[in-house]
Amino acid sequence: MRYRDLLAQSREDKEFQEIIKDLVANPEVQKMKNFRVHGYTTCYFHCYSVAYYCYLACKKRGLDYKSAARGGMLHDLYLYDWRVKNSHLRPHAFTHPFTAYQNAKKQFKLNWMEKELILTHMWPVTFFTIPLCYEGIILTFIDKKCAFYEFMSSLRYRFIRAAHA
Ligand SMILES: [Fe+2]
Ligand SMILES: [Fe+2]
Repeated sequence: MRYRDLLAQSREDKEFQEIIKDLVANPEVQKMKNFRVHGYTTCYFHCYSVAYYCYLACKKRGLDYKSAARGGMLHDLYLYDWRVKNSHLRPHAFTHPFTAYQNAKKQFKLNWMEKELILTHMWPVTFFTIPLCYEGIILTFIDKKCAFYEFMSSLRYRFIRAAHA
């Protein structure tokens, strides 16, 4: 199934929507719509995609899909534009999981797995923060898969725009 179709499917998935309902209604989480993460993709859309893919992958394998979906939705709640100098602790790739965790725990009561998923999602870039559960390993792969797709989509869009300029 294509990425776009899968996201359309997520809107019809009542259980998934119920799991992330309080997260997406939160004003801090909504702020992610103001920051781009990979190419033209907003942080919010990236987290939403990761959350839905994690939900499906973990549900299929009999894992804790609720925590996986919630951890996915919050994993990049760092709330700054990493392209803007001095807006954040550097290097972004290493520090943002901790910033996202600090922001998330101010807004929500996180369970240990949600905390774990946020803090370890950059593995293996952050070599020493190894995911300690299957859900965490799944999230690290899905995060990178979504990031790659988002980056490639932006490149494609740029080429098309340049070709028609
Ligand atoms: Fe991240
Ligand atoms: Fe991410």
